[in-house]
Formats: sequence, structure tokens, C-alpha cells
Amino acid sequence: MNTTTNREWWKEAAVYQIYPRSFADSDGDGVGDLRGIVDRVDYLERLGVDVVWVCPVYDSPNADMGYDIRDYRTIMDEMGTMADWDELLAELHDRDMRLLMDLVVNHTSDEHEWFQESRDPDGGKDEWYIWREGSPEEPPNNWISLFGGPAWTYDEAREAWYLHLFDEKQPDLNWENPDVRDAIYDMMNFWLEKGIDGFRMDAISCISKPPGLPDADTGEDWFDMDLYFNGPRIHEFMREMAAETFENYDVMLIGETPGADPEEAKKYYEDGVDMVVHFDHMDVTYGPGGKWSPDYVGMETLASAGDDELDAMLNTMDLADLQAAIRYWDEGVGDEWNCLYMGSHDQTRAVSRFGDDRQYRRESAKLVATFLLSQRATPFLYQGDELGMTNADWDSADDIRDVEARGQVEMLMADHDVPYETIAPFVRNRSRDNARTPMQWDDGENAGFTDGDPWIQVNDNYPEINAAEALDDSDSIYHYYRRLLAFRRESDVLVYGDTEYVLPDETYPNVWAHRRTLDGESVLVVLNWQGEERTLDTDWVDAPVLFGNYAASERDGATLRPYEARILDRSE
Ligand code: GLC
Repeated sequence: MNTTTNREWWKEAAVYQIYPRSFADSDGDGVGDLRGIVDRVDYLERLGVDVVWVCPVYDSPNADMGYDIRDYRTIMDEMGTMADWDELLAELHDRDMRLLMDLVVNHTSDEHEWFQESRDPDGGKDEWYIWREGSPEEPPNNWISLFGGPAWTYDEAREAWYLHLFDEKQPDLNWENPDVRDAIYDMMNFWLEKGIDGFRMDAISCISKPPGLPDADTGEDWFDMDLYFNGPRIHEFMREMAAETFENYDVMLIGETPGADPEEAKKYYEDGVDMVVHFDHMDVTYGPGGKWSPDYVGMETLASAGDDELDAMLNTMDLADLQAAIRYWDEGVGDEWNCLYMGSHDQTRAVSRFGDDRQYRRESAKLVATFLLSQRATPFLYQGDELGMTNADWDSADDIRDVEARGQVEMLMADHDVPYETIAPFVRNRSRDNARTPMQWDDGENAGFTDGDPWIQVNDNYPEINAAEALDDSDSIYHYYRRLLAFRRESDVLVYGDTEYVLPDETYPNVWAHRRTLDGESVLVVLNWQGEERTLDTDWVDAPVLFGNYAASERDGATLRPYEARILDRSE
């Protein structure tokens, strides 16, 4: 039974994720930086978020935009200095807000000095990465990288292969080696001592590799989850990490754990992890075949159909599947806790994916907000989603910055023998770059993001969709988030209440409803997840509305407007 007795600050918090390269550029080099964030802390405070998660700002050559760390204890030049970082922490703490650092320990950059030393078999760090001898013609096994292409690269200097589950510039560390683990723990303590409030541990389920690195048997899938994720020593490593580092501080520990199900998640919780990041509710919008398979749409359709039609086909969602994914995790972790996000730096834009970013952008972005902030899970908001920022058009392959999209686009063009133009609509609905276009601050040049040349294209729609506009408009998506965050803050039932899943059913396939209950208090969340009105024949639809995305004067009893969201008072 879930009660408020197990209160924790991190259960009540709302997290705001910043992708610093694309947030705000203070010095005109076209890349967002720490001072840019410092200048916008008031904006975040006003929105009402409690924790700021900043994607990696460590020194990096940016093959994967900071997720390839060259030096864990130095700030990337483009992002500023350690003094700027100290100031950001102080500014947040002054406002009772907290700072979560993103940390990548499955791999480093190939430019990290550890890897450079490891390339010398006699250099002392020869066992710090995963090396295999063998002919340069044939990789040690058939694994492929999660970004496309083989998971092995032959290093001429060492005359051996090294493993990289991600890009070739992201060699995997050898966690079997206790020296590696010690060095990582030491570095984590360096940041914890600086006073941070938690880590988001990137790709943490990848750190333990299966003994012997056997060939993958991929079957229908393009990679073998069992070999890549949650390896045999993962929980031993996590417990050791906890004891050596984060358990000694009052911090929030989030594990990004691809491949974990709720049973596996519970083991991470036993290790001391507070929440794991899962992907099941994201996967429900891809058609058959998964994220990078456009086969179910077909190349001819991709080349010829209109944008509206393609966007709809490429973001199919059955609400029952979404409910199954949410419920699987909510019920699956029992008394433990989840986090939930509808967008991130790795996903397309929430309103484009789950809503209608054309005709009902404002309504559907607010519906997504209501969904996110009414679950029994710590909500993670991704920068720009509070403005209803949308996916962008990627007219030329040269505009793509994302290493994953680049690899996959190359594979698709080669496999299907088609020009980039054919794949472009697919990129608009899949590439991580969609979430990485610059934050749209105002209608000035480059959306007010930079005075220089932005490192990635600005979405064309910034004259209409921007923060200045949103702040001025009391009916904006931003103010809706602000009010709903304040409402959640005052509502124990929305944070801690048990969940009962009511709709969808056969009668109302596109209407979502769930009920939250705590100590005799009860609310019902009803979401008309479609661009059409729907009249409900239920005894509860007329209950008093505590919160909604349509003005009281526009509401119509039992009839829900397109993308209408209501939180109803159902306390007896
Ligand atoms: C995680 C990050 C993603 C990164 C990958 C490799 O999934 O969220 O951005 O590319 O790990 O570090």
C-alpha cells in the first residue's frame, strides 16, 4: 500500500532537463553555455521546477555532444569555466533549487588520457578498456553499435580491436578492472564534495559485459538486449558504487537503464538507485520494427506523401498501449518509485509525438503536461516543452548534427538505395536533433539563443513559438505548466496517491482516464486524446473541475473538446 509515510524530497520534486548546448549562449560562439543557464535561473524558478538536470558539460570533443567525456574534472571550453559552474550551483541553491549532474561512466571519449594510455599494451592502463586481439579483417564478434555499424573498431597503434556500444569515439570502459572502478568512484566523490544534489547515470545498465562476449543472436531485433544490458555483475558494481560514493550523501540517483524491466529495476533500487529511466512509453509511438525501421511506411510513401499524413503515420499511438506501458511500470515497481518524461534530449518533441503540433498545438501540449504531472512518478520536463516547441524540418543531410541520426540515415540510404530527400520526413520524426534545436527565447534573430552562428539550425517557427510570447500570454503553455506545477506541489494525492486505470476502453478508445486516491481524497484525470469532440456517458464527467486546459466558459458538461484535459474532484 502506497502512503505518504515514505515521503522523499525527490518524489515531490519536478525536474527540468537542460541540454546546455542548446539552451542559451552568453558569449556569441553559437553554443549554449553555463553563464547562459545562470542568466535564466529566474525563468526556471518562476516556472516552479525544483531540480535542474544539466546534460554533460565536461571537457569533450563532442562526437556525441558531451556524452563522450575527455576529462571528468574540467568544464568544456565552450560551456565556460569551473567558476561559472560554481556560480550556477550557488544560484540554484540560493533559490532552494537543486542541481543534478549527468554522468557517463560506461564509456569515455577516445581522446580521454586513459584511452590514449590504454592504446599502449605496456603502458599500465592496457586493461582499462575492452580490447581483443585478432585479424584487422574480422571483428571479435558480431555486435553492432547502438548508433549503427560494428561495435568494434580496430586500433592501428595497439593492433587490436576495442569495443564501443555507442560511437567509435566512445570506447567502453572495462568495469571488470578494479582500478577503473576506483578511478570512477574517486571522480564521483569529487563532484559530490562540490555539493551537487545527484547524478543521472548515463547508460548505466551497460557497464557489466557478459563473460566471453559471445556472438549476438539478434533474431527479429537489430541488437541483442540480453548481451548489452544488465550484465551478470551489474548489481555488484552498483552496490559497490553506492557504498563508495552516493550513499554517503543526501542525493537523488537516477539510472538510465535501457533493457531493464520493473523486476530488474527493483534490483537497482535495492542497490540504492532512487529511480530508473525506462523507454516503454516512448516505444509505443514507433510503428512495427522499432525506431529506425521505416519499412511499415515504405520508401514510396515516404517519398511522395504529404507532411501531415507522414507525421501521423510515423507517430502512431494506441492509447491502450500507452496505458499498458505506464501501468506495467507503475504496478511493476510496487512501493518503489518511477520517474516519467514525455520528452528528452534523446527523443523527438513531446507535442509532435503525442499531440497535434499543427491544429491543436496549444491544447495538446497542455494535455501532455496534464498527463505527465498527474502520474505517480517524479516528472521530468524537457527544455522547450513548456513552450510547446515542435520537431523541425531537416532539408539537408548536412544539417544533421546527431551522431545516431547520421549513422542510421547513412545505413537507410545505402540499404534502400534512396536519396536523402526520401528519408528526410523520417528524420523529422526520429532524429534526436529535433529536441536539440535552440531554445526559442524571443522573436529576434536566432530566437534570442545566440548573437553568433548557432551550432545547429533554429526551428523556423520561433517567431510564433517563443518564451517572451509565452510569458506575456496568461493562457500560454508555459503558464499552464506553471499553474499545474504549483497545483501538484500542494496536492499530496497527485504525488503519492494510488492509481486506478479507468479508460481507454472499447467505447472510448481515445480517451484516457485515471483515478488517484490517497487517504479519502480522490481525483480523476480525464484526457480527450484526439482532435475531435467526444461526449462521455459516465456518471463522473460532470464532477467539479479542479484543473483543466479549457476555460470554464468553453467547457461543455459531458462533451470533451479536442484534446481537452480535466482534473476532476472525486472525493466523496
Ligand atoms: C544515453 C544518453 C545519450 C547518449 C548515450 C551514449 O542514452 O542519453 O544522449 O548518446 O547514452 O552516452
